This record gives sequence, C-alpha cells and structure tokens, in this order.
Amino acid sequence: MKQIIARIEEETARGFEKAGFDPKYAGVTLSNRPDLAEYQCNGAMAAKKEYATAPRRIAEAVAEALSDNDVFSGVDVAGPGFINLKLNPSFLAQYLREMDGDSALSLNPAKKPETIIIDYGGPNVAKPLHVGHLRSAIIGESIKRMGRRLGHHMIGDVHLGDWGLQMGLIITELHERRPDLPYFDPDFTGEYPEEAPFTIGELEEIYPAASARSKEDEAYKAKALQATHELQEGRRGYMALWRHIMEVSVADLKKNYQRLDVEFDLWKKESDAQPYIPDMIQKMKDEGLAYEDDGALIVDVAEEGDTKTVPPCILLKSDGASLYTTTDLATIVERMKLFSPDEILYVVDKRQEMHFIQVFRCARKAGIVPDRVKLSFLGFGTMNGKDGKPFKTREGGVMRLETLIDDIDEEMYKKIVENRSVRDREAKKTAETVGLSAIKYGDLSNQASKDYVFDIDRFTSFEGNTGPYILYTIVRIKSILNRYAEEGGSAAGPILEPASDGEKTLMLQLARYSEAFENAFAERAPHRLCAYIYELSNNLNSFYHETKILSEENEEQKRSWIALLELTRRVLEDAIAALGFSAPDRM
Ligand code: ARG
Repeated sequence: MKQIIARIEEETARGFEKAGFDPKYAGVTLSNRPDLAEYQCNGAMAAKKEYATAPRRIAEAVAEALSDNDVFSGVDVAGPGFINLKLNPSFLAQYLREMDGDSALSLNPAKKPETIIIDYGGPNVAKPLHVGHLRSAIIGESIKRMGRRLGHHMIGDVHLGDWGLQMGLIITELHERRPDLPYFDPDFTGEYPEEAPFTIGELEEIYPAASARSKEDEAYKAKALQATHELQEGRRGYMALWRHIMEVSVADLKKNYQRLDVEFDLWKKESDAQPYIPDMIQKMKDEGLAYEDDGALIVDVAEEGDTKTVPPCILLKSDGASLYTTTDLATIVERMKLFSPDEILYVVDKRQEMHFIQVFRCARKAGIVPDRVKLSFLGFGTMNGKDGKPFKTREGGVMRLETLIDDIDEEMYKKIVENRSVRDREAKKTAETVGLSAIKYGDLSNQASKDYVFDIDRFTSFEGNTGPYILYTIVRIKSILNRYAEEGGSAAGPILEPASDGEKTLMLQLARYSEAFENAFAERAPHRLCAYIYELSNNLNSFYHETKILSEENEEQKRSWIALLELTRRVLEDAIAALGFSAPDRM
C-alpha cells in the first residue's frame, strides 16, 4: 500500500501539472498548523524562480486546480504562498479501511530486498555478559527485526570475542590451580576428557581473578600472553581447553540472550576469521598497500580532508601477532565469501568509531569490499546510572546482565501484584514480559548515539514514555475488545469517517504507520518507531477517554470504533514485535 503522504503527493502533483507547473514542486509535509490543515505544500515558493511568478499566484493556481478532488476537503493558500491541505474525512476513512484489510498493515515490502549482515551483541567469551553488551543486543535485534519485517534478508551475527588475552589468562590461571590436568602436559598424546574441568560459575570467578593478578604480576602477565600466542598457534592442549571454555560460555550466553528475546542466526567468532588472515595480508603486501614500519605491518588509511588524525591500521605487531583490526578485516573477507551481502552493519559502542573508520577504509583500499557494498557503523552511547556515570552495581562493580534483568522483573512483579488480581503464576510471567518492555523501550526510545540514564523507577512506570505504558495501552484495548465479544458484539467495521477531533487524530496517526516504520528502518533509528507508538498510544487513550464505545447505540458507529481499536492494537503489536518485545493479555 502506498504511504498516505505518497497518495497526497500524487494529488498535489496532479494539481501542479494541471496548473502548468512542474510536479517536482509538489512535495508535501505535515502541517505546522494542525488547527488549519493536516498537510501543507511549500512548493510554490520553490517554483518562484523557474516561473518568475509570485508564489502566491502559483499557489492559487494550484489550489484552483485541486478544487475538485476526493483527497482534500479544502485547499487554502496562506501567507506568501503556503498551500494548506485539509484531508477529506472520507479519504482518510477509505485509507484506513484499506489498511484494515491489508495483512501487512500498509507496510511495503522492499522493492529490492537486500542481504544485510548485522554484527551485534559482541560478547566476550568467558567474561560475564554485562550491561555494556546490553545496548548492542537490544538495538541490533530491533534493527534486524525491522528489516526482516520489510522483507530484507537480515543475518544477525553475534561475533563472539573468543581469541583475545582473556583466553590466555584463563589458561594460565587454570595451570596455576590445576597443574596436573593433561591439557598442560606437552607430551600428552591421549584423548582429552570430554567434560570441561570447570563450571560457568568457576569460569566467571577464574577470569576476574586472573585479570586482576596480571595487572600486578609482570611474569604472570607474560605467561598469559605466551599462552594466548600458543593457543593462536594451535597448541593441542590449549585448543582443547579453548573448546571447553567455548562450550560452557556459549551455553550460558544463549540462556542470557534468550531471556532478552534476542536471537542470532550466526554464532560466529573472531577465531573463525583467522584462516583468512595470511592470504589477505599477502595480497595487501603484494599490492604495496601494507608495509613495514618499526617492525609492524601497517596500512595507511588517512585521507585528505580528515579533521582528526586517522592512524594507520596495524595488521601485524612486531612479534607477528594479529590484532582486533586484522580480525575484523578478515571477518569481512569471510562474510563476503559466505554471504555476499549488500551491507554489513556494526552495532557497537561509539567509542570504537575510530577503529571502524580504519577498518572500513582499509577494506575499501584493499578491495575486500566492492563499492556497491555498504559498510556502516551504528555507534551507541553509554548507559549511565542516575549519577550520570556508567551504570554500576550498588557496590560499584560491573553489573551483570542477569542481575539487572532480575531486578527489573522483581520491581515489575511488585507493581503488578499491587495493581491487580492477576493470579500468582501468571503474575510472574507477566512481570517478565512487562519487565522486558521496560528495559528495551527504555533503551530504544533514545537516539542510539546518545548516552542515557538507566532509571528503573521511570522505566517500569505505567505512565509516561515507557514500555509498560505502551503495553498497558494494548492491554486496555484487548480488554475492551473482550468485553465487546462477551456482550455478543457483531463483526467489527467498516471504519467510518471520524466523529470527533480526537478520533481524527487517532486515524491520522494510524494512517502514518508505514511512513513511520519505513523511515525508522531507513535511518536505522528504532527511536523513531518508539516515538510513533508513544504518540499512537496517547491518541488512543485520549480517544478512549472521550468516547463511550461500548454503550454507543448506533450499531454502525460502534462497529466502526471497534474496528479502529482492533486496528490500533494490530499496529501497536506489530511495532513492538519489530522492536523486540511483546504484550501480555492482562496486566
Ligand atoms: N567484543 C567486542 C567488545 O566487547 C565487540 C565486538 C564488536 N564487533 C566487531 N566486529 N568488532 O568490545
């Protein structure tokens, strides 16, 4: 279905043409004066130069040409040549009836579906999942779902950090504690045990202990670096340990992501890219792109006009070790080979922006990606506590994601039980559903690049711009629809012309769904979709407060309102599914 604004522009374009002007001036925007008209066209001002005619005269001619059509009930010229467009209520009702009958709810599937890889989540194996990884998971998941909803081939890759120093640290610490394990015996040739020599709980204690010790103990740190290097060289016992670490951590990560309703298509990891490194580097050397500098192998990526210094990419350190940059480049090689995507989108902390500028430039220079493939970086800001500093536990430590979710669920549970009579078992489940909306909406409703304050009290409130408020609105609609059904109401619809200003506002907002959704995806901006559903919820609630729906005596009117409620519910549920959460039946 065409966006409502596109339908309107078709009409204004016809008006411009009929009056003898180029339809390219017929663009329309929302009106600045909603009290006068819903839409406006400022094209007459822009057309002034080409036609050497006063804009007001152009506008009047267009208005005259538009005087008899079904889309507008009034076309007025204001000021120097603004064209105010009043929508015909019957056109609006017609548009909504069409939307009501459309299983896609007016959204348009992409004309050319693209293959888009989203690199998000990015947790580091063996380190507990903490809030730093929360934003990537939430934002990435919603963009993935939005794209999918529009028919794109979205591939979500968790891109595990599994190849860094943390592995060497764990190996070293384990060696200190359990030197007798076969993994450390270089002469061992038998089969290693199937069972991991640690649980996730132990693993999560081992890593921080090792990390702390390496900061004080130089020799220990050197051992960990050495172990990392040997692992990367493929030492047999270390590889076996690495596999155990992976198994144990990935199982735990999956559990955590499941609670967040975040799902990845690919569980690829940094180590998967390693086999691509040698050829990639050789090619860059052969082409004269990569050269040695102080023992390291580097590629210059600075460009004329850079406002800040973009340091060269270091591919290999002087000891021959590869780096984060090398891995990211090789991962692009792999992704091109396996998926030939149209775009790779990274949803990563914005403090890593420079790293990605370097990687993208190097990938282009080296011809790893052709021009047609987009490389994009969506950098997000920090999640802060109420004190304005990066979010911590009350004790000042790094907050584990699990704990954060538990805290929210508990808070929600209290509120739900206080509020109403939901049965206990159901209340737990409901608290989880509503809790997830609180976390996700609290994040997504902010522009991703900005920092935001994580405020449990605000996020879990049923009032204001929050997830629970949106769910509350949906639940309210469901309960009216249930009552209508219980009272034996007949089939809903068709949707009639609005009977009040409040109803018209609601209808207009519904009619703008495809525009809001499609723009939000095009801009990779879930916060725009949040803003849309927040306004829609406000419109619905105002309409609800001023309209006695179930006691309406005019059957036709009542059925129209029921259809409008049902359509609002569908739009809200469709939107929140794309954002990554869902609504309960009661709360
Ligand atoms: N593991 C990294 C971190 O915790 C994030 C990975 C982001 N993705 C990437 N391709 N570099 O900082």
